[in-house]
This record gives sequence, C-alpha cells and structure tokens, in this order.
Amino acid sequence: MSIPALLQKKRQAEPISMLTVYEAGFARLAYRAGVDAFLVGDSLGMVVQGARDTLSVRVDDIAYHCRCVRQGAPEAFIIADVPFLADADRSTALQTAASLMQHGQADMIKIEGGSEKANLIASLAAAGVPVCGHVGLLPQRVRYEGGYRVQGREQNAFEQVVANALALEQAGAKMVVIECVPAALGRAVSQALSVPVIGIGAGSEVDGQVLVMHDLLGMTDNPPRFARDFLVGQSSIENAFRAYVSAVKERTFPADQEMFS
Ligand code: KIV
Repeated sequence: MSIPALLQKKRQAEPISMLTVYEAGFARLAYRAGVDAFLVGDSLGMVVQGARDTLSVRVDDIAYHCRCVRQGAPEAFIIADVPFLADADRSTALQTAASLMQHGQADMIKIEGGSEKANLIASLAAAGVPVCGHVGLLPQRVRYEGGYRVQGREQNAFEQVVANALALEQAGAKMVVIECVPAALGRAVSQALSVPVIGIGAGSEVDGQVLVMHDLLGMTDNPPRFARDFLVGQSSIENAFRAYVSAVKERTFPADQEMFS
C-alpha cells in the first residue's frame, strides 16, 4: 500500500479499510485479513493505557507502538497520530514528524484540526512529510469543548467542516479523516476532495472507514453508537478483521441505524 495506491482506490470508488492497531500480534492478523491502512491512533491513551481521554499520550508512546506495529506487519501502510500539542508550532511539528517517521517507521502522520493547521501542513509537506488531516469531532479538544458531540449538524457548521477539509487538501494533506458527523456531511467532504476521505461515524458514502480495534472486537464498555462488534459470529480475531474489511468494501458498514442522523 502507498499514497498513490490509496488515491487510485478513491478514483476507482473502491472503499479503503483502515483500522487502529497498536502492537505486533494484532497488526500481523489485520495485515493477513487485508486491512489497507493501519492507524496508530492516540486512542491508545484510552484503550491501551486506560486514560480518560487521549490528552496524556506522548510522541514517544506513539513512536513505540508504531515500531511494534511495523514489526508485526513490515509491509503495512502505517499512519501515526500526532499527539496533543506535539504540533504546537512548526519546529515542534517537524521534530514530531522525525520521531514518528524515523524512530516509529510510520509512512504518514495525522494531525487534528481545520484551516488553522493549513500553514503547518504546508510546511510539513514542503519538508516531505505526508500528512493526513482530521476534521469533524476532534478528540484532542474534548476538555476544551467539555465532551464529545456530533459535529456539523447546523448549516454553518456543516459548511465550516467542508471548508476546513478543503483547506487541508490545498495545504498538501494526502488524506483526511472525518469523525462523528452526519452522513450527508461525510458525503459532501468526500465529493469536494480529490484525496481519500476516511470516515469514522461519518456514514458509508466516504472513501473508506476507520474503526478503533477495541470497538471492532467488542472490548469497549461504552462504544460509540456507530461502532459494531465484528467478533460476534466469528471464530477468530483474524476472521473478525476480515468481516470488517468485507463490510467496508461492500459499504454495509456503517449501516444507517448505526448513525445518529
Ligand atoms: O486516535 C484514533 O484512534 C483516531 C481515530 C478515532 C480516527 O484518531
């Protein structure tokens, strides 16, 4: 897998399957099951470290887990999350990218935020760092916002999310994740951008899906409404990953009733 191959999938309307993975054993199974791209998300703060949100995760944590994933799936396309404030300015962001791509062996880094991150992404792109944007619900803002809420329901907010995603693409982002928005907004962003738009709780009419592995395996006490336990009815974790990949490819996940709009 590579950036041109992911772009080609978008052009051919072939949905991209992405999964968060944090260690070698699961990475090996997910790679064998045909997952297209692996995200070492800062969700690891919650699902691996047991924290209440993602804010305590450090660059070294992500780099360490990236290396673990690389060991389990040497050929995988790995995206490393940039943790809270690790992109606070250009020089910090470049240092973070060096840690995640050199020490962590990631192929791409992911940055949360809208048009306010465009200049930063342009600097990273100029330095040869492939960046995935992240719009809609931004988990790193949870303490500021006071909780997790569906984004882009009102017309102004809807248009702002589309404008943010476009600004990131124009700045050089090679992919964009969109989280927890009405399906119509997921579709609008996918149609507006030429780079792949990967949804999580954003409907099935985007260019691909990403799911937190612990939600996929039914390990989370209070999973988000759009998540599905793919282990149900399967004989192994690898088969659960395969079921997820098939559901993404067939656009049967997420189903309408798994959305909030
Ligand atoms: O950290 C993460 O797992 C993420 C996904 C929710 C997209 O950013």
